[in-house]
Amino acid sequence: MQGLLAQRVVIVTGAGSGIGRAAAEVMAREGAIVIASDLKLASAEETAQHISASGGRAIAIGTDVSKLDELDALHDFTIKEFGRLDGAFNNAGIPGPGAALADHDEAAFDTLVAINLKAVWYGMKRQIELMLPRGGGAIVNTASVGGIVGKPGLSVYCATKHAVIGLTKTAALEYGSRGVRVNAVCPGVIRTPMVDMVIAAQPDTASEWDKLQPIGRMGTSEEIGEAVAWLMSPRASLVHGHALVADGGLTVA
Ligand SMILES: NC(=O)c1ccc[n+]([C@@H]2O[C@H](COP(=O)([O-])OP(=O)(O)OC[C@H]3O[C@@H](n4cnc5c(N)ncnc54)[C@H](O)[C@@H]3O)[C@@H](O)[C@H]2O)c1
Repeated sequence: MQGLLAQRVVIVTGAGSGIGRAAAEVMAREGAIVIASDLKLASAEETAQHISASGGRAIAIGTDVSKLDELDALHDFTIKEFGRLDGAFNNAGIPGPGAALADHDEAAFDTLVAINLKAVWYGMKRQIELMLPRGGGAIVNTASVGGIVGKPGLSVYCATKHAVIGLTKTAALEYGSRGVRVNAVCPGVIRTPMVDMVIAAQPDTASEWDKLQPIGRMGTSEEIGEAVAWLMSPRASLVHGHALVADGGLTVA
């Protein structure tokens, strides 16, 4: 298949839903061979089936990114199946817990840090080790507008996303000269299944969240998927160490 990412072998974490699923689908449409990984294997399989049904190539694997041995298994599996890794979208993440800083408990802190931050660091570590001997590759990490500004009720979440941008910028400086291009994407308010669930329970939230972004609506997962596919592709060859904000103007208001 031709496209921005023809024949590139790309890992996507959190590929069973929302932004991860959309990015996997856009990248597959652009010719990538996608390793769709998610905590929920059935959801990852559904993503891989969508891709196959549309003529793309994808394979599903269950991975809890908060377990380093499972991240090892994901990368080992990729090499065993395809012999190389060209790109990775470190995207799996959780929100919350929606309480002021003094009301966060240690367990919530540890879980957010394990999934949103430590897993991104360890994933990048494995990816860089695999990419360097082959002359490089491209990594995109999911941060958030919560990595650029603070958000009440989301202190630890915001801390993890600021840290993801820190990892992205530093890795870009350390590995850019050896061909590994590293960037982050910072979505604004994106209407993913998680957001749909909140809206189903509290219908007024939809119009409130639409108004948050100056474009007058929430973003779609596909819009983030397009940004990720471009960052992953050689068309973004000069874009390095960048945290690309895709938020309908939220952070410039
Ligand atoms: N939706 C938004 O408005 C928004 C805004 C900014 C940033 N983000 C970020 O985008 C990323 C994707 O979020 P989304 O909105 O698509 O959410 P989502 O809930 O629709 O998808 C997240 C996926 O990650 C998986 N996941 C959760 N914990 C995991 C774990 N331990 N190991 C592996 N997979 C795991 C889930 O099973 C799910 O399939 C997250 O990093 C999130 O912080 C989302």
